[in-house]
Amino acid sequence: MPISDAARTLRPRRSNLAVPGSSTKMITKAKGLPADQVFLDIEDAVAPLAKPEARRNIVAALTEGGWGEKVRTVRVNDWTTQWTYTDVVEVVSGAGADLDCIMLPKVQSADQVVALDLLLTQIEKSEGLEVGRIGIEAQIENARGLIAVDAIAAASPRVETIIFGPADFMASINMKSLVVGEQPPGYDVGDAYHYILMRILMAARANDQQAIDGPYLQIRDVEGFTRVARRSAALGLDGKWVLHPGQIDAANEVFSPRQEDYDHAENILDAYEWYTSEAGGKRGAAMLGDEMIDEASRKMALVIAGKGRAAGMQRSDRWTPPQD
Ligand code: GLV
Ligand code: MG
Repeated sequence: MPISDAARTLRPRRSNLAVPGSSTKMITKAKGLPADQVFLDIEDAVAPLAKPEARRNIVAALTEGGWGEKVRTVRVNDWTTQWTYTDVVEVVSGAGADLDCIMLPKVQSADQVVALDLLLTQIEKSEGLEVGRIGIEAQIENARGLIAVDAIAAASPRVETIIFGPADFMASINMKSLVVGEQPPGYDVGDAYHYILMRILMAARANDQQAIDGPYLQIRDVEGFTRVARRSAALGLDGKWVLHPGQIDAANEVFSPRQEDYDHAENILDAYEWYTSEAGGKRGAAMLGDEMIDEASRKMALVIAGKGRAAGMQRSDRWTPPQD
């Protein structure tokens, strides 16, 4: 049985820590860090000669455990290389039961997602694993990928997230950005990344998936990281990569609702449920304090409550029905 869509979309992914599979030291350290998700890399952070060793390190680290509640992902090499199938076969045969998702970088077409889905299904069957449990995270890193993003998101029920890969993307479209995540120098375009992020977000949302922002390369500039992360969070993205432990707290904070917004969302859900019930007068629109709430308010509240719950937030204020 594939895992339910709700379970997939509710995985918290505010911070996704990048860890090179070639470094056992960094892998061990990552286990104890408070990131929601970790991805063990066999792609661009690992030199070609170190890839076989990275695969072995990753299998060992996953089967050994100690990852807590983190979403455990492995980034394989993209389908234009000679490495992809070996990456997937070795990692999933060796550690498929201890792995949540495979991240596929530089996705350019729906076919590439389908190819990974088929390969995963075969390995799951031959290893006696639950078929369909391992998810796919699709990284959009070039113009072709962005043009095809709607089809990519819809290509397999395994797709859980669509991720923006700004470094490769900027290179692919010749954008003159020196600091990834910032505006190209000399431009006052408001937000050079708005179009790309919104395309990714629409494709993800149309398929009930999460949209994730990629890395901010200036790892010591936490202020810059926070500024860029806030922009993505304001648009509606669910999380961002972190390349350094120093970026984790900022990501977790930026992508969590504020306590008052979380409380308010939960209160809207409770109040609306009551007002629409027999006891509450079967009303489709009602007042919560000075605010008019209706079905659309409930939908907006569900988003914030879902993010808060996924982040483990607790209510600090609780609405109760009026007494008469
Ligand atoms: C990440 O992979 C990027 O290219 O930004
Ligand atoms: Mg990349």
